[in-house]
Amino acid sequence: MKTSPKLLWALHGPNLNLLGTREPEVYGSTRLEQIDADLAQLCADHGHRFESFQSNHEGELVDRVQQARDCEVAFIVLNPAAFTHTSVALRDALAAVAIPFIEVHLSNIHRREPFRHRSYFADLAVGIVAGLGPIGYRLAMQAAIETLRAPDGAPEAAGARRTRKG
Ligand code: DQA
Repeated sequence: MKTSPKLLWALHGPNLNLLGTREPEVYGSTRLEQIDADLAQLCADHGHRFESFQSNHEGELVDRVQQARDCEVAFIVLNPAAFTHTSVALRDALAAVAIPFIEVHLSNIHRREPFRHRSYFADLAVGIVAGLGPIGYRLAMQAAIETLRAPDGAPEAAGARRTRKG
């Protein structure tokens, strides 16, 4: 079943602009532009619009999330990068706009240093993909698109239930 065209966003946190050269043994050799091009194609294949934004600055990401409601963004694929483990401000912005999102990490944060095990976003997210490299973004976007295809628009119908605490 086709759904009406929607706007989907990818938001990328600090240092992800360096993908391809940044610690390739951890993050791989794929550049952010390639990830975004793949997501754009996937969205286009399903008749949706796609926009991407990367910033190294917490406030810019907060501003961008605040704009999401006015822009009628239907779903966000988010890699908060280091802000995953620190940013109450970005968490609060996502809670405020109440737009469903999937949290993505290239690396498996749970196999890494203990400070990376905590996420300020995990309990707000529809779901989390971690440790699968760039394909994780694609899987997250596919899940987002499936969710939007649900007959009543309810994430539950696509098996991706959004639960909120706090
Ligand atoms: C990351 C994991 C974070 O801990 C780290 O700070 C990043 C990238 C990932 O995609 O694996 O910058 O979010």
